[in-house]
Amino acid sequence: MNSDPVIEVRGLSKRVADATGELVILDGIDLTVTAGSSVAIIGASGSGKSTLLGLLAGLDSASAGSVRLLGQELTGMAEDQRAALRNGAVGFVFQSFQLMPHLTALENVALPLELQGGMSTREAFARSRALLERVGLGQRTGHYPKLLSGGEQQRVALARAFVTRPSILFADEPTGSLDAATGHAVIDLMFEMNRATGATLVLVTHDIDLARRCDTIVTIEAGRRVLHGDAVPGKVEAGR
Ligand SMILES: Nc1ncnc2c1ncn2[C@@H]1O[C@H](COP(=O)(O)OP(=O)(O)OP(=O)(O)O)[C@@H](O)[C@H]1O
Ligand SMILES: [Mg+2]
Repeated sequence: MNSDPVIEVRGLSKRVADATGELVILDGIDLTVTAGSSVAIIGASGSGKSTLLGLLAGLDSASAGSVRLLGQELTGMAEDQRAALRNGAVGFVFQSFQLMPHLTALENVALPLELQGGMSTREAFARSRALLERVGLGQRTGHYPKLLSGGEQQRVALARAFVTRPSILFADEPTGSLDAATGHAVIDLMFEMNRATGATLVLVTHDIDLARRCDTIVTIEAGRRVLHGDAVPGKVEAGR
């Protein structure tokens, strides 16, 4: 593990127009994430966590401030350039999973490999199947998303995010729909990837056990990063 920053955020703000004028969703966030580390983003519902995650991953564009992802400035980059940077290097698990409804679990997981190219379908399916087995879905590879429970869809989404062996995994409440035992298995998988491949983990979570296992906890309150707003005793906030 080296300590180069893989994410550097300065003065990041997100504002949107609403009926009453302007809504400030994020206001001047600073954050540094080093390679191979794990970061938990916590805070109340509506505080801006998902918005922040989307900006860090280059899925959305900021109103002000800067985000450097893997050494490249996202600000001002066109969507297709951001997509090229994300491709293969970044895995994302959405709060709403966002699986493709017309693809089976196996096809959903293999899709990023197909988009990336350079691997035979047979190889892509073998790797995808192995990951589905890891998340306990070896018997569900042929299921379409609508036939899967919420927790099962979440695990497919996690397998899909890991399939390209990304250097950064962003996950929005990755254990939110899981029972305690399955949640632990998913957490173990994420930290195993963190150790084995050096993948940096950036996780939004309400799960105190998960937050505690991360190197750093970032607390967001009403769109601002707060120090000592730490709801998890015994963890030091760092990485400003
Ligand atoms: N495009 C948008 N237009 C208007 N308001 C938005 C938009 N995106 C987010 N918001 C608002 O910004 C706030 C932060 O949303 P966000 O989804 O980031 O919260 P969150 O911290 O992830 O909450 P939760 O824990 O419930 O998932 C919310 O009040 C939301 O309604
Ligand atoms: Mg959210």
